[in-house]
Amino acid sequence: MTSSFSNTIFKPRRHASIFFLFIILLTTFYFIGHEQPLNKFNNSSDCQEKYLTYLPHDGFNNQRIELENAIFLAWFLNRTLIIPPILFFNGVAPIISQPYDELYNLLTQFMQPNNDFKKNNFTFCFSEYKKDCNFVLCFREDQNNCKTVSYTMYNWEELMDFTFLKQHINYIHRQDFSLKHLLESLQIHDDNEVYNVTSDQTQYQQRYYDNPKSTTALGKFKESVNLIDLSKRSEKLLHFGSVFSSIRIVIQLPESKKFWRDLKNKMLPNNPIIINIVNNIVDKIGGPDSFVGVHARLGDGYFVENQNKTVQELIRKIQHDFKNYDVTNHESCLPTIIFLATDVKRDHLSLQPFFKTFPCVFTIDDFNDLLKPLKLLKNPRDGMIMYEFFLPLVDLLVVSKGNKFYQTHKSTFSKYAEQLNNIRQL
Ligand SMILES: *[C@@H]1O[C@H](CO)[C@@H](O)[C@H](O)[C@H]1NC(C)=O
Ligand SMILES: *[C@@H]1O[C@H](CO)[C@@H](O)[C@H](O)[C@H]1NC(C)=O
Ligand SMILES: *[C@@H]1O[C@H](CO)[C@@H](O)[C@H](O)[C@H]1NC(C)=O
Ligand SMILES: *[C@@H]1O[C@H](CO)[C@@H](O)[C@H](O)[C@H]1NC(C)=O
Ligand SMILES: *[C@@H]1O[C@H](CO)[C@@H](O)[C@H](O)[C@H]1NC(C)=O
Ligand SMILES: *[C@@H]1O[C@H](CO)[C@@H](O)[C@H](O)[C@H]1NC(C)=O
Repeated sequence: MTSSFSNTIFKPRRHASIFFLFIILLTTFYFIGHEQPLNKFNNSSDCQEKYLTYLPHDGFNNQRIELENAIFLAWFLNRTLIIPPILFFNGVAPIISQPYDELYNLLTQFMQPNNDFKKNNFTFCFSEYKKDCNFVLCFREDQNNCKTVSYTMYNWEELMDFTFLKQHINYIHRQDFSLKHLLESLQIHDDNEVYNVTSDQTQYQQRYYDNPKSTTALGKFKESVNLIDLSKRSEKLLHFGSVFSSIRIVIQLPESKKFWRDLKNKMLPNNPIIINIVNNIVDKIGGPDSFVGVHARLGDGYFVENQNKTVQELIRKIQHDFKNYDVTNHESCLPTIIFLATDVKRDHLSLQPFFKTFPCVFTIDDFNDLLKPLKLLKNPRDGMIMYEFFLPLVDLLVVSKGNKFYQTHKSTFSKYAEQLNNIRQL
């Protein structure tokens, strides 16, 4: 009797939960479907809805910092966030911080979805110049100096946990970088309905303040913008340029601080295939408590010049922390294994002192067999295999899982690994 009674009460529930799951799947596909244009707003009943967007640039970690900043801005300014796709490049990102118009032109010209003609290859013919340049790097067109990298545009929501976002802001995914498409889909027919917040004439142009009474100085930025003033703008779309930099927004009001902390702790990578691979690698090393994570960024720009210094610094710090063990005995491991995340190959000259000092070091290359599922992971937007694009992220997630983390200064990859490592320690 008891069992049939419980059946009768549980049956409807089970149906309800299946139905609920169906709704979730449906909504997920709706949002991540690559066919979905912005037309959801075509004939929006809520014509009062206001929007905000920005321009992405640089590698994954810089784009993630931009997204986090933009989410904060959307929340504070009570506007629907239009989220650009993640730009993944095979190698160093050629789309870097530029003046607003130039960055917009580059994005519109090169970053095209399902572009059969270019087959996801980005060919750029630029050479670098340094004179009168307000950015870390400035490029001018140079047909004698062309490079091709492959790229893909990926939906943030397929990578990160958006649960917190869903609870706090409205958002939609942008599918391309055509300003024309954007304005059409928002039914903006008049220039006066768009406010270009900045023209970004320098890399760090505007700094945003939530507290009008803030006494925090501008630092490397050129203009201060009070977000309370910005919240009074009536234009339908606020168009930011770059919102990169982890100190771009000065967050001081108590409610803002809480939002910011929760966002950082809750919007984490959650793609099941990636998480599964990371867990398998961590298990193979012997679990989170059996290793320390070390990140050595050596492969590009500023970091090339500092290769030897970076490696020496990492060695010195680890030796210091483990000074009770005989680290000069080249036969024996430290009490923990080392997992080294790096953007250069294992046989790179500058890494050799590290391997000589510490004999028990793993790198991602040691786990090729566990990385196989990544070779099957396709971007639903364009069918690109995500292996090369996701490998650095897998490296980052594994290195962040150790019981301690050693970073490369000034690297946003390191900053993120450290942030995730701190969350793990909570
Ligand atoms: C949406 O907008 C486009 C272009 O503005 C128009 O052609 C189309 O008919 C509209 N659709 C609906 C459902 O209003
Ligand atoms: C668009 O909105 C108008 C006014 O709200 C309504 O009369 C019209 O039927 C809508 N059109 C469509 C295609 O939904
Ligand atoms: C936020 O914007 C919506 C319209 O998009 C409006 O209905 C709501 O009152 C606004 N909330 C605040 C706190 O301003
Ligand atoms: C805002 O920027 C866009 C893209 O560069 C440009 O087309 C538009 O004219 C600008 N609007 C104003 C009012 O300057
Ligand atoms: C894209 O570039 C890669 C090398 O970077 C090359 O192997 C491939 O053939 C290119 N594809 C097209 C369609 O140009
Ligand atoms: C780093 O050290 C190696 C020798 O260990 C040397 O050959 C190389 O030139 C150094 N690199 C830089 C950038 O100083």
